[in-house]
Amino acid sequence: MTTESTARPGLAPDPGTLDPAERMGLDELRAAQLTRLQWTLRHAYDNVPHYRQAFDAAGVHPDDCRELADLAKFPTTGKADLRENYPFGMFAVPQDRIRRVHASSGTTGRPTVVGYTEGDLDTWATVVARSIRAAGGRPGDAVHVAYGYGLFTGGLGAHYGAEKLGCTVIPISGGMTPRQAQLITDFRPRVIMVTPSYMLAVIDELEKQGVDPRSTSLEIGIFGAEPWTDQMRQEIEARLGIDAVDIYGLSEVMGPGVAQECVETKDGLHIWEDHFYPEVVDPLTGEVLPDGERGELLFTTLTKEGMPVIRYRTRDLTRLLPGTARPGMRRMEKVTGRTDDMIILRGVNLFPTQVEEVVLRTPGLSPHFRLVLTTRGRLDHLTVEVEARTDCADDRRSNAAEEVSAAVKETVGVSVDVVVVDPETLPRSVGKLQRLLDQRARD
Ligand code: DLL
Repeated sequence: MTTESTARPGLAPDPGTLDPAERMGLDELRAAQLTRLQWTLRHAYDNVPHYRQAFDAAGVHPDDCRELADLAKFPTTGKADLRENYPFGMFAVPQDRIRRVHASSGTTGRPTVVGYTEGDLDTWATVVARSIRAAGGRPGDAVHVAYGYGLFTGGLGAHYGAEKLGCTVIPISGGMTPRQAQLITDFRPRVIMVTPSYMLAVIDELEKQGVDPRSTSLEIGIFGAEPWTDQMRQEIEARLGIDAVDIYGLSEVMGPGVAQECVETKDGLHIWEDHFYPEVVDPLTGEVLPDGERGELLFTTLTKEGMPVIRYRTRDLTRLLPGTARPGMRRMEKVTGRTDDMIILRGVNLFPTQVEEVVLRTPGLSPHFRLVLTTRGRLDHLTVEVEARTDCADDRRSNAAEEVSAAVKETVGVSVDVVVVDPETLPRSVGKLQRLLDQRARD
């Protein structure tokens, strides 16, 4: 995926400051991955009853892994496996070696819990520091961290990575939007780390306080934890006058910093493959797909001690591409969506990101929208509710609605209703945004 946006000159790090792994040649990296993979499979098998049972049931043993391709013989791991072993059953070290736990809330039932040794926390800080540097951050920068602190990995993950790089951290967490705007003005951070949807709310707030968002000290935004499109990148870059780059991760694998977009290319996210081994599979059959083909992303950790994961099914849809700014590391394309966010409407698959692309290129419409799913007769029906921009004239609203409806029909192939609502009438989120409101009748 390419974008028209280009980075300001001078943001790419000096090659001399990169971690040795970022400069590794492919052969060296593959050899290191194999050694680490063999260690991980053995570590998981010896110390986690779940993996021992799962490998035995599949008739595989860690000794069967002689090359990286052998990983495909091993069973995958899913969120359900973590839930069944709640809370600490997936840990591979004694409890007293676990320095921290995080958990993701999960919409149903038990949260999924993850644990980190001291070594894991150091690895995590290292990959986040590497990510911030790849985004254009430098030692000495002030970094405003507005990802949530707590059990969510966003805040603390960003925090320790920024400290490790040698930055000054402003640990504001999410929420209290007027204060976010005030502290950006007063503390003059160069870097902000936040979900893209909450960034929009903070930009609106700056404007409300009479501050031109382009005049702030911010130069770099590191956005993730939810899908966002290149159109959203352009919106945020234009309104805030910054370079906006993508950061990816998930708590089961580590947290933020599994993959990071480099500011000089903005062409998808380099996976830090010295610690996280990616595969892409067909989400229905589980068959491993060649690089370049779209499917579900899987990760196997290569160095994690506290809670190794083997072939973890992320449910995120993307494809693997060759490295560019870091030639040894593969990239993942910006995530289109999650298998569980996909809306199947009269047999057609639709992702919220497809609607985002259309909304953001329609004049008069703001980036604030949601998707409301209802039942009409026996069929599912989708309404896109989108806020007008404050300067959008009334007659423009109905044209804009028609344009979005026509564009969704054209690009996705399905009819949706579009309602343009007044500015600031849709709910805002302070962390991950839930775009879908499911109001379908249940039998
Ligand atoms: O969201 C970790 C994180 C925090 C990443 C801050 C980036 C920044 P979880 O709460 O476990 O962890 O949720 C992981 O969020 O499987 C994706 O579906 C989604 N996600 C994370 N980053 C991106 C991204 C954190 N850059 C789940 N683009 C993942 C699209 C993302 N989706």
